Amino acid sequence: MIVTRYWKVDQGIGTEIGMELAEAARLLQIGETVAFPTETVYGLGADATNTAAVEGIFTAKGRPSDNPLIVHIADVEQLSSLILSDCVTADHRRLMEVFWPGPLTIVLPVKTGGISSLVTAGLKTVGVRIPDHPVALQLLREAGLPIAAPSANSSGRPSPTLASHVKDDLNGRIGGIVDGGATGVGVESTVIEIAAGELYILRPGGITSEQLQSALPAVRIHEPEREEVQDSDTPRAPGMKYTHYAPKGFMHIVQGENTKAVAEWIQNDINAAKIRGESTGILTFEERASRYHADLVIVCGSLSQPETIAQDLYAALRQFDQRGIQYIAAEGCPETGIGLAIMNRLRKAAGHRLVRV
Ligand code: TXA
Ligand code: MG
Repeated sequence: MIVTRYWKVDQGIGTEIGMELAEAARLLQIGETVAFPTETVYGLGADATNTAAVEGIFTAKGRPSDNPLIVHIADVEQLSSLILSDCVTADHRRLMEVFWPGPLTIVLPVKTGGISSLVTAGLKTVGVRIPDHPVALQLLREAGLPIAAPSANSSGRPSPTLASHVKDDLNGRIGGIVDGGATGVGVESTVIEIAAGELYILRPGGITSEQLQSALPAVRIHEPEREEVQDSDTPRAPGMKYTHYAPKGFMHIVQGENTKAVAEWIQNDINAAKIRGESTGILTFEERASRYHADLVIVCGSLSQPETIAQDLYAALRQFDQRGIQYIAAEGCPETGIGLAIMNRLRKAAGHRLVRV
């Protein structure tokens, strides 16, 4: 156990750097780990050029060392120390102009000697982004370093959208937490790579496929495969967690065109779990919530404004654990716009178990 420092800062921060951020930046400079808010989720930052510091991230999170980290910078000038500038194409530049600062991570060929090879997990590429959050930007400027930062959760748990989530997972394991209130988007950045002139979405996120297409109308965009298993194909093994974002209880997604049939299926499924003696939970949306009865019904945003679903998703998944819920049915949402990222996270949280009604 180490003592984790805690600073509360104002979201509407001015140009003056406060004492709190100055101290947090100093901790980063001396090789410690500091959690900070971004517009997507809280990140756990460390100096990307310092291998011992980056090791601190992997240890605190319990993260497998073959999963590379995103590097956060304050401005595009910092790019040249990290990546091979010759490989930056007009399409890359256009994406940076349109979406930075913002929730888009661009994977580019890494410059040798620029950052620790732990950051890239030995790959020849590095993912980079400029976060669109006043606190993150001030911290990055003050530290004057490229900062490697995965989401600030224990590996496998839902990403943190509040400083209290970071505290729950990492208190006593990291140098400090900058509390800047709730994050905005709620799901992580979109990770993309351009190869042979075509754009690959490696992880859907805050910037949608539609937004990318309108920035680069002539470029072919590849969305990731949607993994899915039939519910009955997978043995129910709540203890075995190779899933991400997963609540501790069993969870599956129920989806279908006929919303009445979906609601009936879910309620019957939950009633059966109740009879087996399990505590039950349902994840649903404002429009549907009144149909359900369970020990915990979580209303996760509104289908008419899918951004609100993204904002609430991780906190909702954490609530099931806080209440010790053993059996969960989650409604799916349409996979357009931000819905692609929402369903990507929900599928992982549900171990890819999906029931089509
Ligand atoms: O919104 C976000 O991206 C948040 C905030 C803190 O910025 N960060 C975040 O980091 O989500 P993390 O470590 O939880 O997720 C990084 C993702 C992983 O899926 C990783 O595999 C991918 O980015 N990634 C990083 N570097 C990569 C690379 N060189 N090539 C391919 N994928 C990469
Ligand atoms: Mg993560």
